[in-house]
Amino acid sequence: MVSSTTTSNNKNKPIAVFDSGVGGLTVYKKLKEVLPNEDYIYFGDLKNCPYGQKTKQQLIDLTADIFNYFKCEDVKAVVMACNTTSANVYEEYNNKFDYTLYPIIQSCAKIISQLPIERLGVFATSATISSGAYKREINKYNSNIEVFEMACPGWVQIVEGNKQNDELSVQLIKENMDKMLENNPDKILLGCTHYPFLLDVLSTFASRDMFIDPAEYFANYIKEDLQSRDLLNENGGHERFYVSAKPKKFKIGGKMFYDLHEEPQLIEFARA
Ligand code: DGL
Repeated sequence: MVSSTTTSNNKNKPIAVFDSGVGGLTVYKKLKEVLPNEDYIYFGDLKNCPYGQKTKQQLIDLTADIFNYFKCEDVKAVVMACNTTSANVYEEYNNKFDYTLYPIIQSCAKIISQLPIERLGVFATSATISSGAYKREINKYNSNIEVFEMACPGWVQIVEGNKQNDELSVQLIKENMDKMLENNPDKILLGCTHYPFLLDVLSTFASRDMFIDPAEYFANYIKEDLQSRDLLNENGGHERFYVSAKPKKFKIGGKMFYDLHEEPQLIEFARA
């Protein structure tokens, strides 16, 4: 599933993490907890955010620049924190670069399929839901889990706009929750990196432990995989942040999940 063309002399190369915006910080924070000695490059594609309303071809086209940029940065691994790109572009780019690709959905599906769950709800973007990736990947390992997928258009914009407590936002989230709860799920998976930012609101409609944030499983999976291939860095600990637009907005919006000391640097790709 994961390409493994890297060799042990790549240990000290950085790990890249990317998402359409601040959402990937929910994954980045967990990665830093389990792998504090790595060097990291985080890229937030705010210029093209939200990804969730784009077509598969649009996502393939716009991520080409990002994967090529990571190649220039000579990273050892790319963490596809973004569920939408894991669902829609992973297969297109897997094995095309020298670095290892870690897609969040495919990397976490086995672990999630082993949890004591019979009925699993999944909230995700429209592009993730229409790909059917969560249902397919989870049922590949455990066909007894009934998966109820629901697209939540608007949720990413709520998070990027820091509007989680606005009346209209709460109303929209409640409508989605009411519909999801009709399926009587044991757990609800937050299948978009932005959604853990909404946990305070979500948990006013169901208990907090109803929700699964795959970030922790993902971070541990990456650690174990790097460890098994002798690719852990013991001498790093540096981080760099980049965005394709709106650096100020990223710093303010990301605060809830990560304490950024400086504004991210702006990178503009010729084509994006
Ligand atoms: N946060 C990303 C995901 O996990 C994409 C959200 C978006 O830009 O629509 O799917």
